[in-house]
Amino acid sequence: SRLAILASGRGSNLQAILDAIASGTLEAEIAGVFSDKPDAQALLRVPEALRWSRTPKSCGGREAFDTVLADAVAASHPDWVVCVGYMRILGEAFIRRFHGRILNIHPSLLPKYKGLHTHQRALQAGDTEHGASVHFVTAELDGGAVIAQARIPVHADDTVADLAARVLACEHPLLLQVLQLAAADRIAACDGNARLDGQPL
Ligand code: GRF
Repeated sequence: SRLAILASGRGSNLQAILDAIASGTLEAEIAGVFSDKPDAQALLRVPEALRWSRTPKSCGGREAFDTVLADAVAASHPDWVVCVGYMRILGEAFIRRFHGRILNIHPSLLPKYKGLHTHQRALQAGDTEHGASVHFVTAELDGGAVIAQARIPVHADDTVADLAARVLACEHPLLLQVLQLAAADRIAACDGNARLDGQPL
């Protein structure tokens, strides 16, 4: 299956995808890497022909950017749009266009801690467990159906950096597990719920 990757930063999740494709554990190809940050490290992980970046400013505003991005993603003919550290909220037009085919990885056990600063919020709440979720993207921020989660224990002396590192380490296998299901066409969003082989998860 063809994956359009949206990323704003470092791209360690993208690297995990690239490594899995190279080693044959994920049957997929990268349709393109799309970024709102022209200097994103993620872009440098793929050949130049697969890189796309624009800023909302260069497109004349957020809505125009959303359309330009959607056109570029559509032109790459993806089966799936995968947000990995994409730090911008997708516009409604974008989401409508790729409905049911957009995935995101989020560093919390959703529905807990939608949005930013998830590790800090988990620590402040005194949670003993934290983790990451892969979910379908809908118009509600980090609110689409959860497909799979990975859990880690929170230790008493954990810092935000400790948690961020341990969650990131479990994000990569989690994302790959879901992408293997996606590539095999085994997951779908149905009436706001994630399905595996047509069954509720
Ligand atoms: C990950 O923690 C992801 O869950 C979050 O942003 C981070 C991206 O990391 N949405 P990377 O760019 O894949 O290294």
